[in-house]
Amino acid sequence: MKEIVVSGIRSTGNLHLGNYFGAIKNFIRMQHEYTCYFFIADYHSLTTHPTPADLHMNVKQVLVEYLACGLDPDAATLYIQSDLPEIAELYLLLNMNAYVGELERCTSFKDKIRQQPDNINGGLLTYPVLMAADILIHRAHKVPVGKDQEQHLEMARTFGNRFNRLYHTELFPEPYAFNYGTQLVKVPGLDGSGKMGKSEGEGNAIFLSDSPDVIRKKVMRAVTDSGPTSEHQAKPDVIKNIFSLMELVSSPETLAFFEEKYNTMQIRYGDMKKQLAEDMILFTAPFREKINALARDEAEIHKIASKGAEKARESASATLKEARHAIGIRRF
Ligand code: TRP
Repeated sequence: MKEIVVSGIRSTGNLHLGNYFGAIKNFIRMQHEYTCYFFIADYHSLTTHPTPADLHMNVKQVLVEYLACGLDPDAATLYIQSDLPEIAELYLLLNMNAYVGELERCTSFKDKIRQQPDNINGGLLTYPVLMAADILIHRAHKVPVGKDQEQHLEMARTFGNRFNRLYHTELFPEPYAFNYGTQLVKVPGLDGSGKMGKSEGEGNAIFLSDSPDVIRKKVMRAVTDSGPTSEHQAKPDVIKNIFSLMELVSSPETLAFFEEKYNTMQIRYGDMKKQLAEDMILFTAPFREKINALARDEAEIHKIASKGAEKARESASATLKEARHAIGIRRF
């Protein structure tokens, strides 16, 4: 049997090129190598945004964008977290054995206390329990997340092991973080910072749904310097960033052309950015088209989400049945 992979996708925020070359490429490869469950974590978003302007629309957009990138509902099980009542029930059961002390010590909780001191709700405190329920509900072995989620994953192992011990069962395997680490491409931001990310500031990231005009504006504002002062000069970081982005979206000939210009001190960053913008527009065009087409196809979205929920519930209800049985919850 193939190993089981589970990952949650944040339901806020559009996808940018950094996401595409990072997590999403990993997902697309994993879906053919493992039994994958990928879901949109809409419950989790309520811990920080309890009254979202349009939660349904956010979820739809994220789903559409992942599908446009190549997540295949026939290969992976793709669903919306809130479509699985089993997750909420397992969360309830796990909460009984999650200690307030260990939850309060969680780094992400302490960060949130600083970020939103006026809304330190119970959902925030028990965020790691809900995440553990997401993972344990499918008895996952592997979770493709980054370093920032390591502590949450450790807590999922703690809660799963504790459940096994308390109820004398071997229901839950230990889930571990997993990525195809070596092939990860670094996608720099446009603001001179090392990383493309939506929290790094307006204009730093190119979103897959950005219109050509927006892409042009963002790229033309990208940080550069006054140019090389000697031939074959080592590139400062901000310039390396522009070249790295070009390497991702432009042809090898285009890249070689501007390398040559740089090395001979003839480079004009305005020209280079113009070319980069056009190549980014070409690169993102198929995504944009698929995003727009899918967003209009309510029937297709309904079909995909329903089928995903149905497949996910098969696995989830089997786990929950065993969990209830282990505790001693039985029908009269
Ligand atoms: N906490 C994750 C994040 O912020 C999202 C998430 C929720 C998740 N549940 C999960 C990731 C389960 C992996 C497995 O990105």
